[in-house]
Amino acid sequence: MIFSFGKKKADTAGQVDFSHLPRHIAIILDGNGRWAKRRGLPRTAGHKVGAETFRTIATYCRDIGIDYLTVYAFSTENWKRPQEEVDTIMALLKRYLLEAIETMERDNVRLRFMGDMTPLSGELKALVDRCNAISERLTGCLCSICINYGGRAELVHAASRFAEDCRVGLVKPDDLTEDMLAGYLYSAGIPDPDLLIRPGGELRLSNFLLWQCAYSEFYTTDVLWPEFTKEELHRAIASYQRRSRRYGGLREGTT
Ligand code: FPP
Repeated sequence: MIFSFGKKKADTAGQVDFSHLPRHIAIILDGNGRWAKRRGLPRTAGHKVGAETFRTIATYCRDIGIDYLTVYAFSTENWKRPQEEVDTIMALLKRYLLEAIETMERDNVRLRFMGDMTPLSGELKALVDRCNAISERLTGCLCSICINYGGRAELVHAASRFAEDCRVGLVKPDDLTEDMLAGYLYSAGIPDPDLLIRPGGELRLSNFLLWQCAYSEFYTTDVLWPEFTKEELHRAIASYQRRSRRYGGLREGTT
């Protein structure tokens, strides 16, 4: 397989300072379909290779000491795709969860699932529950997989849980703060992503982590997800490390 990385000139842009890594990386897994089409393959072939790429990158993130990895695997809108494609993605998720159940304890990797799991098959929901139960005993890198996830739906879900807590008298409407609302999101307890990576060349958020990415640094690349490599991850991290994060304030020393 020819990676587009191999065609680029060697550069220093991918040099990473491993002592100052982003704590939380979020990735929109995009470009699987185009990767397949360009090779005359069905879109499902792109998802199969995309799932392998996810394994490689998730393992590498754990190895270099990234504390949190969050990936957008299936959105609330992806149900509109042909049934065969949806079935393939669900089968890939099932395979990944079955493998994870065998390995996560040994590797000390926690898995978390963000999104509304209600429409998933009973089998997949049972695997999600098993992964959650194992994760509770572990302390290592937390990999969150967004399935049937939408940022707006997450906010509606959080608002409705808050409203219910108000109704039963646990909290009062006036108590609401940003921190409290964050505690009602699927991502409760996880720091916001420092770096958001979008392969596949699109320059949009696509309803991903709308609340959490308020101050995330954005990195996009034309490289399609199935051909995303550790070197491309290095480029993204190196780009992040060259940024000056000001959170709406001024650069240190600026008057
Ligand atoms: C977007 O590419 C990708 C998806 C909708 C599915 C991603 C799912 C996987 C990689 C498989 C399972 C995941 C895990 C975490 C094991 P696209 O099809 O929209 O690409 P295109 O823009 O080129 O059409």
